[in-house]
Amino acid sequence: MTEATPLLSEKSGALSGVANVPGDKSMSHRSLMLGGLAVGETIISGLLEGEDVLHTADAMRALGATVEAGGDGLWRTFGVGIGGLREPANTLQMGNSGTSTRLLIGLVSTSPITCTFEGDASLSGRPMQRIMTPLEMMGAEFMAREGGRLPLTVKGTGNPLPIEYKSPVASAQVKSAIMLAGLTAPGITTVIEQTPTRDHTENMLRHFGVQVDVEDLKGGAQAIRVHGQEELQGCAIDIFSDPSSAAFPAVAALINEGSEVRLPNIGLNPRRAGIYETLIEMGADIKYEDERIQAGERVADLIVRGSNKLKGIHVPPTRVPSMIDEFPILAMAASCAIGKTVMTGLEELRVKESDRLLMIANGLKACGVELEMGEDSLVVHGTGQPPKGGAMIETALDHRIAMSFLILGSVTDEPVTIDDAAPIRTSFPNFIDLMKQLGMVIRAA
Ligand code: S3P
Repeated sequence: MTEATPLLSEKSGALSGVANVPGDKSMSHRSLMLGGLAVGETIISGLLEGEDVLHTADAMRALGATVEAGGDGLWRTFGVGIGGLREPANTLQMGNSGTSTRLLIGLVSTSPITCTFEGDASLSGRPMQRIMTPLEMMGAEFMAREGGRLPLTVKGTGNPLPIEYKSPVASAQVKSAIMLAGLTAPGITTVIEQTPTRDHTENMLRHFGVQVDVEDLKGGAQAIRVHGQEELQGCAIDIFSDPSSAAFPAVAALINEGSEVRLPNIGLNPRRAGIYETLIEMGADIKYEDERIQAGERVADLIVRGSNKLKGIHVPPTRVPSMIDEFPILAMAASCAIGKTVMTGLEELRVKESDRLLMIANGLKACGVELEMGEDSLVVHGTGQPPKGGAMIETALDHRIAMSFLILGSVTDEPVTIDDAAPIRTSFPNFIDLMKQLGMVIRAA
């Protein structure tokens, strides 16, 4: 266990510059997993070299794939081919990473190997039953702690059954775990999603040559069908910058009047970029330049200008899956806006790296913000003035809570301190340096 690193952030004034945020986390995990399964060489550029993704890289090596770092986000894999995964000699260490854990459990569950997964205190509290249920239907067996918690051992099956599964939760991780399991199963594995979630697995599988069909069903639902036992073909993947990470400098610029920050090469897949739609509805000055399609995904450069004109809005609950990781930073923007911001349909926030709803509410209250928290909702009352601040924030091993409150400290009357900045390395290793370059004042507490 690394030592906690408390940090403090204080009023900064206008921010400016170019913020090169690291590669997309979802795409980075998937590129290593699919590259590690494909036949031949896959060249990945722009990989996020954060702790979460490095856990995926280590696990893929332990499963028999060749995974090599070439420096500066350039990586190379030689995959094992469908059915070629090797039983790891040791426990797979997943650190803080829910995406690594759930997707890899899916991947190994339809191979005749046994793997044990372990994580940190945050990950060990997160629910795995949501993937165990469908994977058991495919033939895998599990042993886990009470409530399907890590440490967990999966005994994969050598005779997987393709299934049709209607997911009870809006979760790209559940969908992806089943799809990855389906790659080794004969025939077609189908996931039905009531509310469609990020579709990076679908897009990337197609990029590797696997047939994935999507059918629109009644009421906005979708059936996603992956064709099993088709070899993945090694390819080249250029990973765009992470729209979730970019939301931190974007909001920092928005709440600091006079700021102008450019964010190059940001992924704007409509299933991922709901935060930008929401901020624009709140009155944010965000421009998209040079919009393009890169590896089947929408990408643009963002220009964000600060003003003190954000206004509170009702965020439509249908938009929640497309900005599921952005509620902590949205809540910070809402606390500086005029009027109330109403956020509903947030039940999944309770089972992220922390109980995010509680962590946001506790932290904002401690900073003097008026709010109401419900079981799955949050209403933040902004006055149009920055909150008082002056609090010590508990971050509970949650990188996004840590980054969000540091950003808030750039406008509050009194500095904001976070109890531990170490988890930021899981997703955004250069966050502190980058924010300082833009003009933020962050120092040891
Ligand atoms: C992710 C899906 C989301 C998200 C996570 C990354 C992915 O989780 O919160 O950070 O890469 O598939 P859920 O599937 O639990 O919503």
